[in-house]
Amino acid sequence: VIKAVRMLETARIRMLPWEGDDEPAFRRLATDPRVMLHISGGEPWGDEKIREFLTRQIRQQRELGFCIWKLVLKEVGEVIGICGLQPLAGTSDIEIGWWLAPEQWGKGIAVEAARAALAYAFDSLGLTRVVAVAHLGNEPSVRTMEKLGMTFECNTTHKGVEVVKYAIEKK
Ligand SMILES: CC(C)(COP(=O)(O)OP(=O)(O)OC[C@H]1O[C@@H](n2cnc3c(N)ncnc32)[C@H](O)[C@@H]1OP(=O)(O)O)[C@@H](O)C(=O)NCCC(=O)NCCS
Repeated sequence: VIKAVRMLETARIRMLPWEGDDEPAFRRLATDPRVMLHISGGEPWGDEKIREFLTRQIRQQRELGFCIWKLVLKEVGEVIGICGLQPLAGTSDIEIGWWLAPEQWGKGIAVEAARAALAYAFDSLGLTRVVAVAHLGNEPSVRTMEKLGMTFECNTTHKGVEVVKYAIEKK
């Protein structure tokens, strides 16, 4: 039985499921060329893609007990990024992922949130392996994987784009 998470919390961040009125907050991230540089080549996502993403996350939370959660900075109560777990398209793996608003880069927030997501994956969901993929050249994302103790697995293609794939096994 999958126990639905109500909330993951770290020192600075609350990690929460999405709600209907979160669309503007997610749109700010998904239309910022700095955030999207290594995701869509800097192209902002359109409304349809934004809604698809949110609908999928809400469904995954309900059906699987996890999703790519919103990150709320506790100090200000605002959505400043996303981090969480989802099935990696075209594989049987579960991936961890992260995007942050540029104002929040370089403060260790991605690693802080991702550690909580990994602990949840291994200790609560009972997963034995979590992977991550990043476009070649996404140095901050790869450094985040390495800081989490993930190790390089292979170069592969994901949705037609060349990526590096990292993995971590339950200890
Ligand atoms: C990837 C991302 C979430 C990292 O977030 P962050 O909170 O800045 O990362 P952290 O502060 O936890 O730092 C993680 C590591 O990356 C390093 N790093 C951060 N920015 C970097 C940069 N521009 N170049 C090289 N390394 C960088 C940090 O220094 C740190 O490593 P260190 O401790 O060895 O120095 C953030 O850069 C981001 O949102 N990027 C845009 C969205 C994106 O590409 N997401 C990933 C898709 S696969």
